[in-house]
Amino acid sequence: VWRMADLLIRKPDDWHIHLRDGAALKLTVPQAARQFGRVIAMPNLRPPVDSIEAARDYRTRILDALPSEYRNRFHPITPLYLTDRITPSVIEEAVKTDYIKAVKLYPAGATTNSESGVADLAPFYDVFEAMQKHRMPLLIHGEVTDMQVDVFDRERVFVERQLHPLRERFPELPMVLEHVSSKEGVRFVEIHERHTAATITVHHMLLTRNDIFQGGLQPHHFCLPVVKTEEDRQAVRAAAFSGKPCFFAGTDSAPHARHKKESACGSAGIYTAHAAVELYAEIFDEEGMLDRLEAFLSEYGARFYGLELGQEKVRLVRTPWTVPDSYDMGGDELIPFRAGRSVSFRLEE
Ligand code: NCD
Ligand code: DOR
Ligand code: ZN
Ligand code: ZN
Repeated sequence: VWRMADLLIRKPDDWHIHLRDGAALKLTVPQAARQFGRVIAMPNLRPPVDSIEAARDYRTRILDALPSEYRNRFHPITPLYLTDRITPSVIEEAVKTDYIKAVKLYPAGATTNSESGVADLAPFYDVFEAMQKHRMPLLIHGEVTDMQVDVFDRERVFVERQLHPLRERFPELPMVLEHVSSKEGVRFVEIHERHTAATITVHHMLLTRNDIFQGGLQPHHFCLPVVKTEEDRQAVRAAAFSGKPCFFAGTDSAPHARHKKESACGSAGIYTAHAAVELYAEIFDEEGMLDRLEAFLSEYGARFYGLELGQEKVRLVRTPWTVPDSYDMGGDELIPFRAGRSVSFRLEE
């Protein structure tokens, strides 16, 4: 494989990240701003971001944590969390802002801070109608929470039971199957590619369920949707490498304090934002697919959301570096993905 020495690309965007709130922003915002020009900052705070005012205030808190060197160069989007406070008239107001852009659907109980999520979609059909009219994307954590369904099948069953009917009822509603993790999820997006997309994480491209149990329980490899079989991982990778504009980067970087991860009831989430672009580059390079990296990281997402492409450039240099063992997150220890080990690309601004 012919290898470029280094790579100059349009600065990437992250279409799915958890920045958290309060003191955590002092770590998560600078690290995200180094890697990304624009991010979708997920609204699963406590309480959830489910009003225009809450979204505006959260965006302000994010920008307040931004180092001055990034001023006017980092654009957080703060979508609304779908709760019963979201009505068609809220959607009419939201489309007038330049920072909401989307609504996030969490099935109740599916993941971190999803208690306020949705149990049944039918009561929200008028909201989806308003979103379809304005072409506002519905971002979906696509897992059923039915205890009868095996945890590794929850995405597949959500696609069957919820996504297919939703797609039929709202044929032009833009939908993003977030952090796609199964071959059935990939397939759903491919067959509906006109108004459907998926974000793809670093960890769903790298890990299988074996990695959760390798030599003992590995809490830092636990996330939701849970990483699945090798066949599923290969389907997710093939989607990212396909060059299809319906597949783009969304890290789902989800920091939890070390004591919350290394616990008798460990939190779901993997922190990748310290090295996300470098890790995507390493993965695409291993597959000889570096020529498809820039579109995946910096073009297809913006196109799906109907936004301008970013104008800044970043350089990816083939220089290995070692990820720190931990970071300080507002006084808590945070263990990043690849802690203490090497990454083969280095991002330079
Ligand atoms: C908490 C965290 O990050 O530690 N989540 C959050 O702030 N969204 C943990 C939790 O609520 O599970
Ligand atoms: O692993 C995850 N962590 N998946 C999610 O969907 C939520 C996230 C979080 O907020 O911690
Ligand atoms: Zn999710
Ligand atoms: Zn997430």
